[in-house]
Amino acid sequence: MSFRAKMEQVAKKKESNIVLALDFPFEKLENRESLFSKANHILGDVHPYICAVKFNHHLVLPLGAIDGVRKLVEKAHGMGLVTIMDCKVNDIGSTNQVIAEYYYAAGFDALIANPFIGWEEGLQPIFNIARRLQRGVILLVYMSHKGAREGYGQTIIDAETGDKTLQYITFARKALKYAADGAVVGATYPEKIKEVFGILGEKTPIYSPGIGAQGGEIKSALVAGARYLIVGRAITQAENSAEAAKEIRNLAQG
Ligand code: XMP
Repeated sequence: MSFRAKMEQVAKKKESNIVLALDFPFEKLENRESLFSKANHILGDVHPYICAVKFNHHLVLPLGAIDGVRKLVEKAHGMGLVTIMDCKVNDIGSTNQVIAEYYYAAGFDALIANPFIGWEEGLQPIFNIARRLQRGVILLVYMSHKGAREGYGQTIIDAETGDKTLQYITFARKALKYAADGAVVGATYPEKIKEVFGILGEKTPIYSPGIGAQGGEIKSALVAGARYLIVGRAITQAENSAEAAKEIRNLAQG
C-alpha cells in the first residue's frame, strides 16, 4: 500500500488527522536516556488521538536512529500509527540516497525533503528509493516560521518556464509533478495553504505544522485546505499530554 493510502486508512480508522511531533527540549548528554522513556510514555498516552508520529533531530541526535528511535518507530507501528522522519533532506543526490536508505531502514514510512535542491542529483534518488520500498516523500512548500518568506516566499524567475512567480508556487507545482506524497505548508500562513490547495487540490495532501506554540490555528488551517495537522509542543509540553491531544483532535474533527 502506498504511503498516502496508508495515511488515509489510519486517519479514518483512528478518526484523527493529528500528526504528533515527538519533540523534547535539549537534555544534558548524561541524561539523554530519559528522553527515550519520556517519548515512550507520551506515545503510550496519546496514541488513541493521533494518526501518525513525526520524529525530528530532537530524538535522532541523542538516541540514534537505528539503536534508539527505531524502537519508538516499532512501538508506533505496533499501535497502528504511521511514522514520518522530518529530516528535511537537503544535500546532493549521492548523500541523499544514503540518508534515505538509513531512515527507511530504521522503519520510517516517509521522510520530508527540501525541493530547493532540485530534481536531478537532488530529489530524484530519494523518490527512486521511496518508490522501490513503497515509502513516502513529503516536500516542503512553505515553512511555518517567520523567516520563511526570505526563501520560500521569494519572487523568482522560474528556471524552467522563465516566468516571474513565487518560490513556493513552483514548489507546489513540483510536488504535483513528482507525485510527492504530501506538501508541508505552515498553519501560520492559512492564505498560503489556500493558494497551495488551489494548485494541489485533493491530489497531494497538505501537512500543516505550526499549530499552538507557533501561533497557527486549527480551524483556519483546515478551512484553507490542510489535510493533516502536525502538533508538537502543545502536546508534548502540556501538563496532561493525553488531554491536550484529545482536545486538539476533537477541535480538528469539528
Ligand atoms: P511545534 O512544537 O511548533 O512543532 O508544534 C512543530 C514540529 O514541526 C516541525 N516544523 C516543520 N517541519 N516544515 C517541516 O517539515 C515546516 O514548515 C515546519 N515547521 C515546523 C518542527 O521542527 C517541529 O518538529
